[in-house]
Amino acid sequence: MAIKTQQTEPQPEGPQKTQMSDNMKGFFDTRSAAVHAAHLVPHIKPNMRILDVGCGYGSITIDFANLVPKGSVLGIDASDSMVKYAEEARSAGSISNMEVRKMNAMDLHELEDESFDAVHAHQVLLHVTDPVKALREMRRVLKPGGVLASRDMASLFLYPFSDDLKLVYNMYEKLADATGTNSWGGKRTHVWAHEAGFDLEKIEHTATNWAVTTRKEVRIWAESSEEGIPKAAFEAGCATEEEYDLMRTAWKEWAMRQDSWMGVLDGLILCRK
Ligand SMILES: C[S@@+](CC[C@H](N)C(=O)[O-])C[C@H]1O[C@@H](n2cnc3c(N)ncnc32)[C@H](O)[C@@H]1O
Repeated sequence: MAIKTQQTEPQPEGPQKTQMSDNMKGFFDTRSAAVHAAHLVPHIKPNMRILDVGCGYGSITIDFANLVPKGSVLGIDASDSMVKYAEEARSAGSISNMEVRKMNAMDLHELEDESFDAVHAHQVLLHVTDPVKALREMRRVLKPGGVLASRDMASLFLYPFSDDLKLVYNMYEKLADATGTNSWGGKRTHVWAHEAGFDLEKIEHTATNWAVTTRKEVRIWAESSEEGIPKAAFEAGCATEEEYDLMRTAWKEWAMRQDSWMGVLDGLILCRK
């Protein structure tokens, strides 16, 4: 088994700390504002200043920048490598109204109060140890009347669901418990937003689903997942070496089938300050 246990940089807390690797780039690069921030896009005006929290590889952030030609976007991420990737993507696209900085969502002290028209996070709050603290910070930097949008996984199923894939699923939950994060955070984002100070009547709360169905999507998802949870769980001491191998094989077998697919339900919030 070839597994790297050494970390070369400070990592954000949570199970994603080793999930986001080069293997995943192909998958995350397919994310777009039109699809993954569809609840926020209708509220974006060309002169807005937008904060994208946990921007990852930056594909959604770049779309935001293109939607605000008279405004600007700041993408922040707690991971050095994600900041580097997003900055490389920004530079490759010659995007001049976008900046990427390393910052923790729970501590945005570098940013002024009420300085953004919109604040966005996609699949981030479920990885944060104190999502209410993060949302409080996100609300602080939002202008009065501004809009905050967040979207997080609430539930998923895999078909077929072999015993070894069940091990991966259970390991995802075990890892989140061990790191103090929220495996299915999308179920309760609206509650966190209220705890962070948003009035209940100013929180729109809904859900959307997505799926991995084509052979290409299945292959990309399995390849990117092969390292993710198995490696993170092994490094966190949640999985044995044997379990690590079983989980990786489970993804390989799932990818080789003709009938495999995955369905996901995301919880969405749109909050006005
Ligand atoms: C699943 S990825 C989503 C990336 C991007 N939003 C997208 O949808 O393509 C989660 C991202 O959140 C970042 N992250 C996790 N905890 C964070 C924190 N406390 N502060 C800032 N970023 C964080 C991770 O480094 C990672 O890039």
